[in-house]
Amino acid sequence: MAEKAQAPVDTKSGKTLTVADFRSKLFAALDQTKGRDLAVGNVGPSSSAVRKVTVVGVGNVGMACAQTMLTEGVCDELALVDVIPDKLKGEMLDLQHAAAFLPRVKIVADSDYAISANSDLCVITAGARQREGESRLSLVGRNVQLFKAIIPKLVNASPNAVLLVVSNPVDILTYVAWKISGFPAHRVIGSGTNLDSSRFRFLLGQILDINAHNVHAYIVGEHGDNSVPLWSSAMIAGVPLVKYLKDQSLDTSAVEEILENVHRQVVQSAYEIIKLKGYTSWAIGYSVSGLVKSILRNQHRIHPVSVLCKGLHGIKEEVFLSLPAKLGLGGVMGVVQQTLEPKEKEKFIQAVKTMQDIQKHLDLKV
Ligand SMILES: NC(=O)c1ccc[n+]([C@@H]2O[C@H](COP(=O)([O-])OP(=O)(O)OC[C@H]3O[C@@H](n4cnc5c(N)ncnc54)[C@H](O)[C@@H]3O)[C@@H](O)[C@H]2O)c1
Repeated sequence: MAEKAQAPVDTKSGKTLTVADFRSKLFAALDQTKGRDLAVGNVGPSSSAVRKVTVVGVGNVGMACAQTMLTEGVCDELALVDVIPDKLKGEMLDLQHAAAFLPRVKIVADSDYAISANSDLCVITAGARQREGESRLSLVGRNVQLFKAIIPKLVNASPNAVLLVVSNPVDILTYVAWKISGFPAHRVIGSGTNLDSSRFRFLLGQILDINAHNVHAYIVGEHGDNSVPLWSSAMIAGVPLVKYLKDQSLDTSAVEEILENVHRQVVQSAYEIIKLKGYTSWAIGYSVSGLVKSILRNQHRIHPVSVLCKGLHGIKEEVFLSLPAKLGLGGVMGVVQQTLEPKEKEKFIQAVKTMQDIQKHLDLKV
C-alpha cells in the first residue's frame, strides 16, 4: 500500500511547515552550501568556473553549432542572440526541452545583447549566406555592415571574450571583427579551414579506406575557393602521403590526378551541398564545437584556423588566413610554421594579396 505523504515539519519547533515555508528553508540551506564543497563530492562548478558561450545568429549554422556544443557538453551556459525574436524564442524552447537528454546547460535567448554578458566565447554566425553558385567573397558588403552593428555590442557585454567568427567570407570578417573589437589578435579567431581540412581528411580517408582521424593533412590559407592543400606535409601513420600512394603501385601521374581531384572536391563541397539542400550546417557545427572545446577546456590542440598572419611566413600585412594554431584558454596560444613548398607558399601569398585588395575598400567606421 502506498504511504501517505507526510507534511514537512520544522525540526526545531516541531510545527508543520507550509509548502512556501519549506521551500524558503530549503533554499536558505542550499545558500549556505555556496562556496564550499557539499558532503558528497564537489558538486558543480563555482560561478567563476561557469563557461558561457554566446551564439549570434540562430540560422542553420548557428543552431548546428548550438546543438553540437550542447551534445558535447562544452559549456555550462548558452546564450542565443538574433534579430528575429520569435525564431529565437522557438529555438531556445526547443533546445531547453532536451534537458532530460543532455548535460546540464542553462540556455537563454534574447535580441538584447545584455543576455550575452560575461561570455567566455562568442560564436558569430549571423549574416547572409551564399546562394546557389555564389562565392563566399561576394558576401563581404552585406556582412561587414552586420558586423559593424554586432561586434561593438558583443564587446560591450563581454570585454574579455574570445570571438570566433564563422560568417562568410570568414577570413575577411575575422579581420573586421579584430579591427572593430580592438581585441588582441589572439582573442579573435575565424573557423577558417578547420572544416576544409576535415573534408580533405574525409575524402583521403575514403580513397585509402582509412579512418579520417588517422589522415594527418592540413588545408591552410583562405577558407573556400583558393584554399591551399598541404600535400607536402600530409601523412599516414608517419609516412608521407605521396610516398604512401606511390607504394600502392600508383605512378606519378595517377598520384597527381588523385591529389588534384581531392582538392577540387573539397573546394566544390559547399557548392554541391548548397545546390542539394540549400545550406551547409552539420559539419560546420561539429567543426565549431571542436574549436570551442579546445579553447574552453584549454586543450592545447592544433587546428587550422584563421589567425593574424603578420610576422608569419614572412607576411608583413595585417590579414587573417588559416594556419595550424594551438588553441587553449584565451584563444590562440601559438602558430606552427610548417615548411611550405614553393607552390604552396605562392598560393598562400596570393590569398594574402586577395585579402588585402578587399580590405583596402572596407569602411570600418562604426
Ligand atoms: N565558416 C564556415 O565554414 C561556414 C560554413 C557554413 C556557413 N557559413 C556562413 O555562416 C553564415 C550563416 O549561414 P546560415 O546558413 O546559418 O544562414 P541563415 O540565413 O540560416 O542564418 C543567418 C541568421 O543570422 C541572423 N541575423 C541576421 N542579421 C543579424 C544581426 N544583425 N544580428 C543577429 N543575427 C542576425 C538571421 O536572422 C538568421 O537567423 C553565412 O555567412 C554562411 O556563409 C560559414
